[in-house]
Amino acid sequence: MNVLLIGGGGREHALAWKLAQSPLLGRLYCVPGNAGIEEIAQCVALDVADHAAIIRFCKENLIGLVVIGPEAPLVAGLADDLEAASIKAFGPSRHAAQLEGSKGFTKDLCAEYGIPTAAYRRFADASAAKAYVATQSLPIVVKADGLAAGKGVVIAQTRDEAYQAIDECFGGAFGAAEAELVIEEFLDGEEASFFALVDGENALPLATAQDHKRVFDGDKGPNTGGMGAYSPAAIMTPALCARVMQEIIAPTVRAMNARGTPFKGVLYAGLMIKDGAAKLIEYNARFGDPETQVLMLRLKSDLLPALLAVAEGKLSSITLDWHDDVALCVVMAAKGYPGAYAKGSEVKGLQAAAADPNVEIFHAGTKRESGRIIADGGRVLGVTARGNTIAEVRSRAYAAVDKIDWPGGFCRRDIGFRAVGRQAKK
Ligand code: AMP
Ligand code: GLY
Repeated sequence: MNVLLIGGGGREHALAWKLAQSPLLGRLYCVPGNAGIEEIAQCVALDVADHAAIIRFCKENLIGLVVIGPEAPLVAGLADDLEAASIKAFGPSRHAAQLEGSKGFTKDLCAEYGIPTAAYRRFADASAAKAYVATQSLPIVVKADGLAAGKGVVIAQTRDEAYQAIDECFGGAFGAAEAELVIEEFLDGEEASFFALVDGENALPLATAQDHKRVFDGDKGPNTGGMGAYSPAAIMTPALCARVMQEIIAPTVRAMNARGTPFKGVLYAGLMIKDGAAKLIEYNARFGDPETQVLMLRLKSDLLPALLAVAEGKLSSITLDWHDDVALCVVMAAKGYPGAYAKGSEVKGLQAAAADPNVEIFHAGTKRESGRIIADGGRVLGVTARGNTIAEVRSRAYAAVDKIDWPGGFCRRDIGFRAVGRQAKK
């Protein structure tokens, strides 16, 4: 079967790497891809927003499945348009992608179906939002309603900070996200990412993972898309995973079905864990980045039949086996990220870094110019290692990082610190 993968980040390189191992795969194409994906797939320079062009490409190249990586094309209805053209797609419809595309939508759904989440209110104007903040305890969380590339969330320690966030939000600081906001209770605890494949009716949990959202060591500095991840996440015990499936994922799947907008794809729940119980912070309607990098390294089963079963509504026939080991990914980003950063510096030493057979280097923002690898985005590489213990994979991943010669980049040096601490205590 020929597959078209949409996206060009580290998540998509990891998906491409895993799909390329499938005995069922014919040709693998990727729009737009990156310098790493290019080594295992044919990258095609199409505009992802031009759905007619994507459909034409699929028909011309006998594409059996389109795997949509990022959220923007989902919210823009690419899966709907593909299905209308009788092309199978892995990824939710425009309506179902509202679980990620509108925080207010998801909060209302949680309220209606009793899904545990932070207490909240929705606002469409600044003065009402400020009046509400004045009555609430601190810290308090201000969120732009729509997609804001991870930047639309402010955890305000003072009321003035909250008022400023409200003004910025309604002033258009988060683009199209400015029309509405959600103000919610601050949740204390430890965060974890939880993924389940969903075919509209059935849900199949994936292995557990945790990422590191803040840019600097010790979880300091602004939020990013994710600076590193590891799997499994010890905090997600089998009992807690079962509870999350029962209390959060299953009611969401039922609710989306009941509303006539069934969710198909991967449901990514951002969770806050405290005292053995989980609350939903937010949903994403796609795989996590860099969580996918560690999950794909640990997935033993073929990915392609599972993604196809999601698209066809046949997930109940699928089981997934996982390697009983540990994976960890260190993201290397351009200096300045998640703020302004320069593009165009050369990344060297990748071959030496990837010499260890237990290391995979997934590319994110890279491109190839006259045979050289050039940094072309904020997050540029995901150096990912497998091994028996978290301490072992951590030193393996950093040994590979240290072979990469890229003065324009940086990374956190403490990925996995919570898990290493836990292991040391045992
Ligand atoms: P979101 O885009 O909703 O995932 O928020 C980004 C990050 O902000 C989350 O990963 C959390 O670290 C933090 N965050 C969001 N909502 C809350 C909350 N209610 N309480 C505490 N932290 C939060
Ligand atoms: N790792 C966070 C995300 O994919 O949104």
